[in-house]
Formats: sequence, structure tokens, C-alpha cells
Amino acid sequence: MTMSRMIRVVRPLAAAAMLCLACTGALSATFDERVAPCLACHGEKGQSQTPQIPSLGGQPAPYLLIQLYLFREKQRAIDIMNEMTKDFTDDDLRAFSDYLAKLPAPQPPAPDNNDAARLERGKALVTQNRCNSCHNLDLTGRENIPHIADQREDYLVKTLREYKNNTRHGYEPTMAEVLAPVTDQQILDLAYYIARFR
Ligand code: HEC
Ligand code: HEC
Repeated sequence: MTMSRMIRVVRPLAAAAMLCLACTGALSATFDERVAPCLACHGEKGQSQTPQIPSLGGQPAPYLLIQLYLFREKQRAIDIMNEMTKDFTDDDLRAFSDYLAKLPAPQPPAPDNNDAARLERGKALVTQNRCNSCHNLDLTGRENIPHIADQREDYLVKTLREYKNNTRHGYEPTMAEVLAPVTDQQILDLAYYIARFR
């Protein structure tokens, strides 16, 4: 191969390699940038401080993956989350799920003003409706079943109501079936207890 021919072959390759380096550099730099808005809403340390926005820390990665997929496909209709995930590749779905699953699980609020009678009612409802047979005895979830212990009370009420009235469609219809016999007052007591789980 003559030198000039070699340069003709090598130059575009070298240029492509440099572009590619720039491109992986940019991608790895942007994961932190891309996850920053998620953490601003959902809580830097896995625990949300914002009304109606769920804590994500301690969620099993497979549960997060399915929910991000449902958001991207608009099968779970929440404008902000549909917007956030609309350009996600399958690799993004996995990368964000794996990252968020490693954040620490939320902690219960200080027990000072707890209403003991409501806690008792909530605890009895968890057993009666077998919530803890699927979500684990300590409500930490597994695989596609979410961690619910110490989730925000306002979000629990909202999402349980949405499962019951079929505005939140799960990946499977399980939760709508579970909640069919559960009254709205019982949803309030369940959320009260689960949000303060110890
Ligand atoms: C402006 C605030 C906001 C931003 C930014 C945001 N989210 Fe959300 N996210 C929400 C809200 C609100 C919900 C709850 C929707 C509902 O009521 O069901 C949610 C729900 C979720 C859920 C489902 C949680 C569950 O328990 O089912 C996941 C997972 C999630 N977001 C991940 C992300 C990721 C990843 C990003 C960044 C790419 C992100 N969010 C950015 C507001 C936000
Ligand atoms: C048969 C198994 C099963 C039982 C029993 C069950 N769950 Fe679930 N639960 C699931 C599954 C699976 C999901 C995820 C569904 C989806 O894709 O949205 C879920 C989702 C949830 C969520 C949504 C969490 C989030 O972060 O958005 C809450 C809250 C919840 N369950 C509470 C309860 C409560 C309270 C009970 C008892 C009254 C209960 N579950 C009983 C399987 C179960």
C-alpha cells in the first residue's frame, strides 16, 4: 500500500475514532446531568420531599424498569414522566433503573404524633388483604413488586385510588383486583400505616 493510499484509508478511520471518543465522553458525562432532574424531583437520597412525587430509593430494579417502560410507551399516563422518558432507549431504561435501585430506601417520619388506632387499623388491613404476601412481610418488595414501606402517604393514597378506579394500569391487573373490595376509608388507613412502617 502506498503512503498516500494509506493516508486516504486511515484518515477517515482516525476521524471516526475521534468522533466516537468525543461521543462516549459526552455520554458518560451526561448520565449525571440526565439523572439530576430525576433526583431533584424524586429526592437526592432516594426519599422524595415533594408532595405527590414518589420516593424511588430501594425500589427493585425490575419494578423501575417496567414502570419506565410503561411511561415511555404512555401506558402509564403521567405527562411529566411520559415527557422525561420519550427518547429513552432500552439501554437508558436499564441504566436509570439500575442507578435508582441503589439509592437508599426512604425512612419513616418520627413517631411522635402517630395515631395508634389508625396504625392498628392499617396493620390489620395489610394482613387481611394479604398485601404483605406479595410485597414481602417488611413491605420491601421484590422483582416486579414495588417497595412500599415508608413511601409518601399522599402518593400512596393517589396511586391506590387510581388502581382501584382503573386510571392506573399496572403491568398486570393485580392491584385493581386486590383493591376491588377495599373502601376509600380503608385506602386512607392503609396509606397512613404504610407511610409510617417500622
Ligand atoms: C418534575 C418532577 C419530575 C421529574 C423531573 C421526574 N419525575 Fe419521575 N415522577 C414524577 C411524578 C409526579 C411521578 C408520579 C406519578 C404518579 O402520580 O403516578 C413520577 C413517577 C416516577 C416513577 C414511578 C415510581 C413508582 O413508584 O411507581 C419512576 C420510576 C420515575 N418517576 C423515574 C424518574 C426518572 C428516571 C426521572 C428522570 C429521567 C424522573 N422520574 C424525573 C415527577 C418527576
Ligand atoms: C398478588 C400480589 C399483590 C398483592 C396481594 C398486593 N400487591 Fe400491591 N402490587 C403488586 C404488583 C405486581 C404491583 C405493580 C403493578 C404495576 O405494574 O403497576 C403492585 C403495586 C403496588 C403499589 C404501587 C407502588 C408504587 O410505587 O407506585 C402500591 C402502593 C401497592 N401495590 C400497595 C398494595 C397494598 C396496600 C396491598 C394490600 C391492600 C397490595 N399492594 C397487595 C402486587 C400485589
